[in-house]
Amino acid sequence: MKYIKDQVNLKEKIVLLRLDLNVPIKNGVITDQTRINKILPIIDYLLQKECKILIISHVGRPKGKVNLALSLKPICENLEIKINQKIHLIKDDIFKLKKEDLFKGSENKIVFLENIRFYDEEEKNDVNFSKHLAKLADLFINDAFSCSHRAHASVSKIAEFLPSYAGLQLETEINALKKVTSEIKKPITCIIGGSKISTKISIIKNLIPKFDNIIIVGGMANNILNYHGHQIGKSIKEDNCESIIQDIYNAAKTYSCSITYPKDVRVGKSMEDKAQIKELDEVTTDDFILDIGPKTICKIKDIIENSKTILWNGPAGYFENSSFATGSYEIAKKIIQRKKNNLIYSVVGGGDTIAVLNQINSINDFDFVSTAGGAFLEYLEGKELPGIKALN
Ligand code: 3PG
Repeated sequence: MKYIKDQVNLKEKIVLLRLDLNVPIKNGVITDQTRINKILPIIDYLLQKECKILIISHVGRPKGKVNLALSLKPICENLEIKINQKIHLIKDDIFKLKKEDLFKGSENKIVFLENIRFYDEEEKNDVNFSKHLAKLADLFINDAFSCSHRAHASVSKIAEFLPSYAGLQLETEINALKKVTSEIKKPITCIIGGSKISTKISIIKNLIPKFDNIIIVGGMANNILNYHGHQIGKSIKEDNCESIIQDIYNAAKTYSCSITYPKDVRVGKSMEDKAQIKELDEVTTDDFILDIGPKTICKIKDIIENSKTILWNGPAGYFENSSFATGSYEIAKKIIQRKKNNLIYSVVGGGDTIAVLNQINSINDFDFVSTAGGAFLEYLEGKELPGIKALN
C-alpha cells in the first residue's frame, strides 16, 4: 500500500479525497462532529503541500436518489468554520463536471461534491462512473477507513483509474486495529449493538472463534429475543435471520464462546417516550424495546469485570433519547473504571458509539477509538476490505 505521507511531489495536484463524513444530522444540525475533526489533519497536510482538494463523501443511505435532508451542506459549512477556508459545494450533475472548471477563477482550494450516494452508480461500483470521477483529479486518497468495507465506486473501483494512496487517518486506524488483533490479552469480549442490524448480524458468526464472550445489545438483540420466542412489539428487527442466528449458536458451541443477550429491557410506546423497565415476558405488542434493563447491565458489568480486552461497537439503546441511554452509559462507565486501573485494554468503534461517549465526555478514556463501525467489525473478522484491497 502506498501512503500519502511518503509522497513528495504533490504541489498543485488535484487530489480526489474520499472521506467518511457520515455524521449524525438532526434537523440540519450536526449532533456529533468527531468524524469531521478526525479528517482535519489530512486537509491541513494537503493544503500545506499546495494541493487542490476535491472531497467526496456520503451521508446516510439515500439509495441513489437526491434527498435534501442528506445534503453535505451542513458538513461543508461546519468544515469551513473549522479550517477558516471557503469551500465550494458542487450540486451540479457530476457527469457534466470537467476537471479544468473545478477550481477555475476562484480562490477555492477545496471543493465538495454533493452526497455521492445520490448517484445510483456509487453503490454499484460502476466502472464508467468511477472513470469519470477519476478524470476530475490527478490522484486519489482514501482517508475513509470507516467505509472501506463497501465495494463502492468512490471507495474501490476508482483506484483502478488513478494513482491511489492511503490517507493519514486510514493509516492510523489500520495500525491501531492491527495491534489489537495481534496482541490480544484474554479473556476477550466483544459488545455489539447499534441499529445497523443487516450489516452486523452476519458478521457475528465469524467473530465467535476469536472471542470468549459476545454480548449482543441494541437493535440486533431484538432479533435474538424474537428467535427465543419473546414478544418484541414494534421494535426494529431484520427479517429472515433465523438461520443466521442458528449458525451463531452452533459456532458458539463449537468454539466455547458465551453469547449474552438482554435478560430485561427498557421500553417506550414511542421513541420520544420515557423509559419503562420490563421483564421479557411483560413486553406488549405496542412496545418499542429501546434499551437494556438493570439485570442485563449487571450481567454485562460482570463480564467486563472478568475481561482483559474489550471491543465495543454500537450503542446498547436509542441513546438519542436520554431515557434510553442508560445501558450505553453504564457499559462505558464500567470499561473506564477498569481501564483506569490498567486492568483492561479497550477499543471502541462506530459513529454512534462515539456520539454516546461524547455525550458523557469520555472519548479520551479508552485505549483506541475507531471512527469505523461495520468496517471495524469486518476487519476483525479477518476479511480483506474492498477499499483497502483497492489500495493494495
Ligand atoms: C458508517 O457509518 O459505518 C459508514 O459511513 C458506512 O455507512 P453504511 O453502513 O451506510 O455503508
